[in-house]
Amino acid sequence: MVTYRSPREWKIMREAGRAVARTLAAVRDAAEPGVPLAELDAVAARTLKEMDARSSFLGYRPDWTSVPYPAMVCVSVNEVIVHGVPHAHITLKDGDVVSVDCGAEVGGYHGDAAITFVVGEADADAERLVAATARALDDAIAAARPGNRMGDISHAVDRVARANGYGAPDGWGGHGIGTAMHEDPGVPNRGRPGRGLRLREGLTIAIEPMFHEGGGNETRVLDDDWSIATADGSRAAHFEHTVAITADGPRVLTLP
Ligand code: MF3
Ligand code: CO
Repeated sequence: MVTYRSPREWKIMREAGRAVARTLAAVRDAAEPGVPLAELDAVAARTLKEMDARSSFLGYRPDWTSVPYPAMVCVSVNEVIVHGVPHAHITLKDGDVVSVDCGAEVGGYHGDAAITFVVGEADADAERLVAATARALDDAIAAARPGNRMGDISHAVDRVARANGYGAPDGWGGHGIGTAMHEDPGVPNRGRPGRGLRLREGLTIAIEPMFHEGGGNETRVLDDDWSIATADGSRAAHFEHTVAITADGPRVLTLP
């Protein structure tokens, strides 16, 4: 069931989104070669606390895994696409492509966003992958307006993947968000323009393109039962924003 939210609710989600943005910035600042991923999670914990926000991820257990999520944020390095667990035994090194994903709850409402960056010196291919994934999110947000359909958002993501020959994992994408982190409708990263749910004012969704350098769309789940990696081992990038669809167009709720 799709729920439409009021401007009063957008405002609370904006507060959650602000906590998310602040946390992502703090984690990014702390990410440098030699830093263990668990230390980034500790930075996230501190920042969320400062913002009076609660992690939406900690303890979360969707149907596809038997393990409650064990950390504050997801940190997905290189071939890990999404849901990377910030393990203490993984240490950042120069050139790593790092996605950080944060969900936060404030006043009963959630915000969810992700960024990808390269630690230290970036090679040209990594820069191209990160830039294309960021552009896919921008294009998809621009399509999130009343009168359009869900397929317009999905297609905006897909066309950037195709133009660059990147893979996009089957079965993973964005979602409705509000009083729960994951709500209807799904926001697929592939679709046909002009098809699917008609977008109406008050729809609040998380849009999350994820691309990888290899052309296939297959994934594998790592031993921690959470981290989703590319089957071909190629590096991945992932960006996400929480967006409210308003009469004036998209309003991004997870900006700083
Ligand atoms: N943004 C991701 C998603 O919506 C992050 C979920 S992490 C989890 O799927 F731990 F909460 F599942
Ligand atoms: Co999400």
